[in-house]
Amino acid sequence: MSRKRVRYIWIPLLIAVIVVPAGFLYVDWNKSGSGAGLYSRQWLPDALFAYWNPDDFYQSVDTVSGVFEGKQCVSCHEGVTPGIVRDWKASHHSNPGNGKPAVYCSACHGDDHQALHLPTPDICGRCHVTQHVQFEDEKRFGFPSHALAMERAMDAKHFVDKPKAEVTACLQCHSVASKCDSCHTRHRFSAAEARRPEACITCHSGPPHPDDETYFTSAHGRLYLAENRQWDWSKPLRKGNYKGPTCAYCHMSNGKHQVADKSIWKFGIKQTNPLTSGNKVKREQWVELCSDCHEADWSRQQLAGLDAERKKAWKKLYRAEAVLKDLRAKDQLYPAAGERPAYPVDWLDSVRPRARIGFFEGQASAFYNVSPIERDYFEMWYFDNLGAYKGAAHGDQAAVSRGHAAMDSDLAGIEQEAKRLRSLAGQEGQEQYQRPDPSTLWLFGDYTEFNKGHN
Ligand code: HEC
Ligand code: HEC
Ligand code: HEC
Ligand code: HEC
Ligand code: HEC
Ligand code: HEC
Ligand code: HEC
Ligand code: HEC
Repeated sequence: MSRKRVRYIWIPLLIAVIVVPAGFLYVDWNKSGSGAGLYSRQWLPDALFAYWNPDDFYQSVDTVSGVFEGKQCVSCHEGVTPGIVRDWKASHHSNPGNGKPAVYCSACHGDDHQALHLPTPDICGRCHVTQHVQFEDEKRFGFPSHALAMERAMDAKHFVDKPKAEVTACLQCHSVASKCDSCHTRHRFSAAEARRPEACITCHSGPPHPDDETYFTSAHGRLYLAENRQWDWSKPLRKGNYKGPTCAYCHMSNGKHQVADKSIWKFGIKQTNPLTSGNKVKREQWVELCSDCHEADWSRQQLAGLDAERKKAWKKLYRAEAVLKDLRAKDQLYPAAGERPAYPVDWLDSVRPRARIGFFEGQASAFYNVSPIERDYFEMWYFDNLGAYKGAAHGDQAAVSRGHAAMDSDLAGIEQEAKRLRSLAGQEGQEQYQRPDPSTLWLFGDYTEFNKGHN
């Protein structure tokens, strides 16, 4: 082999040897601040986060000292936290049956009162191996999933860049990753409670994910509202046990603690091809589920209706994206990307500012820090589109019509505003007219300055 040839091998090799470890070091360094996640150096947690993300932030109280047996925990806490003890006494942990010993406070919190812990799923998993393994298995299917919810929120750019008071709520919902008590609340830990839709809607509601609103408006939700008092909630979620489906019946069928394995359209924020072989397998799982109560082919057609709605929605969204991309290409967005602050540690954006348009360019950045027309597209994509999607997925036809009517009007508004921006840009080239420089407000305004000092 000639010398030159050899160089083709060792130069890339040398680069890899330097760059790969440097990348790992950079990520490690970034994560080594006192917060958590990718932005742990930029963002410090509030006290509340100890309960939502105990692995990273919980520190035991040290006001009571001693190592106690389970029964001692119960008797002292009867006075300190009577409600907790009452719920525990009514739970299967206190009376497991089948001759099993009771699961005392210490089994979940530890027995040393100065080294208590708050139980994360791995602690429940010591006894409930099946549920824990299924829960962790969600990670295989990527985002979104309960098991990945915590890092997904903390690693989101708008999470770290907004004032803490505005994003504290994120972790209340996204703590589903670190707490098995999201659906069966402490300290009853009741399976029957988790089977009901109320167990999900504390988190699954509101404009980007109106599961609550769409389910309760659907035929299934109406049936639930009318008849649920007569249903026997002690029965597991299996064929024949329930007349109508709840959230968990459909998304955790047969008690499987895995909400991600059947998802095709997922959150609805990007277009998907429902006809890939993998997605066809998932669709058949859905059809099988509907067939607990409906005819299979009828169900297949209902679900094909969802795909048709999605196709129509994405046509509208792509039209709006094309308008924005055209403005960007002609440098007619106002304020332009360089006139507004980049997100923290987004070095690429601070060196080469560029408006991100569409999911694949990283549209999470459109949550704020954008020009009004980009925000209009964000609202179309994140609220109206997602409302229509969940309407179609859950059988709330009114939500489908509402979502599409709103998208039509968004699109018309975006086209109108684009016309205005084009004409302003045209005038600018001509006579004395100068648009004011927006960067003082954006780069050095209250919001930006305040955040820099307070996160
Ligand atoms: C099956 C496991 C389990 C058992 C048994 C258990 N806990 Fe808990 N406990 C939890 C979980 C889960 C949390 C919530 C942790 C979090 O917020 O991150 C919690 C939270 C708490 C909290 C703090 C939150 C609050 O609501 O005040 C206290 C206090 C507490 N438990 C006391 C007790 C006492 C006393 C007992 C026994 C009577 C007990 N626990 C038994 C799982 C358990
Ligand atoms: C002698 C009384 C006593 C005994 C025994 C006792 N606790 Fe506590 N526990 C308390 C008091 C008081 C607090 C509130 C401490 C505080 O807020 O500073 C507390 C708080 C807690 C908390 C909440 C900690 C937090 O950060 O919010 C947990 C969990 C807890 N105890 C679990 C246990 C467990 C498990 C045992 C048995 C191993 C136990 N306790 C035994 C008195 C007791
Ligand atoms: C030391 C073992 C142990 C630990 C730790 C434990 N459990 Fe349990 N759990 C049991 C036993 C035993 C039962 C009774 C039923 C059975 O035999 O499976 C039970 C029952 C349950 C049930 C079913 C209740 C019903 O209504 O049928 C739920 C839900 C549950 N546990 C959740 C949890 C959660 C969540 C955690 C962690 C916060 C946890 N468990 C930690 C042993 C444990
Ligand atoms: C404590 C809040 C909370 C509760 C309670 C909760 N979820 Fe979730 N769920 C989330 C969050 C947060 C995500 C998105 C996580 C992410 O960012 O990846 C999610 C995601 C999902 C997904 C999407 C999975 C995918 O692959 O697209 C499904 C389905 C789901 N949850 C169903 C349920 C059901 C059914 C219940 C009730 C039995 C429930 N959830 C209860 C917070 C919750
Ligand atoms: C009311 C509960 C709730 C709050 C508050 C909340 N989320 Fe979520 N989030 C969810 C649910 C539920 C989903 C999944 C919806 C679905 O799959 O349909 C989700 C999805 C997401 C996803 C998408 C995951 C993916 O890649 O597809 C991200 C990122 C996210 N949330 C970040 C945040 C941030 C950052 C905040 C705070 C600004 C926040 N969330 C506040 C419940 C919540
Ligand atoms: C998204 C909501 C949700 C979360 C989060 C959740 N569960 Fe459950 N859990 C349920 C539902 C729904 C059922 C009832 C299943 C059925 O009827 O077959 C259930 C039932 C159970 C049971 C009783 C199983 C039986 O056969 O009686 C145990 C034990 C349990 N869960 C443990 C856990 C553990 C451990 C975690 C954390 C890894 C967890 N759960 C997190 C919704 C949830
Ligand atoms: C009749 C069954 C059924 C019921 C009941 C139901 N869903 Fe769904 N849900 C679906 C279907 C079907 C989809 C679209 C699945 C796909 O193709 O991705 C979906 C989509 C979702 C998604 C987006 C992630 C995904 O899997 O695609 C979430 C999150 C969700 N539902 C939560 C809920 C919640 C919370 C409730 C209760 C308030 C609920 N669902 C009730 C069938 C159901
Ligand atoms: C546990 C039983 C059960 C399951 C599972 C179930 N449904 Fe239903 N569904 C019903 C009942 C009961 C009704 C109301 C009576 C009727 O219209 O047949 C209903 C009504 C409907 C309706 C309204 C029917 C109409 O003619 O207005 C649609 C659409 C629907 N279901 C779709 C689905 C789809 C799609 C799935 C699977 C993702 C599914 N259902 C799963 C029980 C179920």
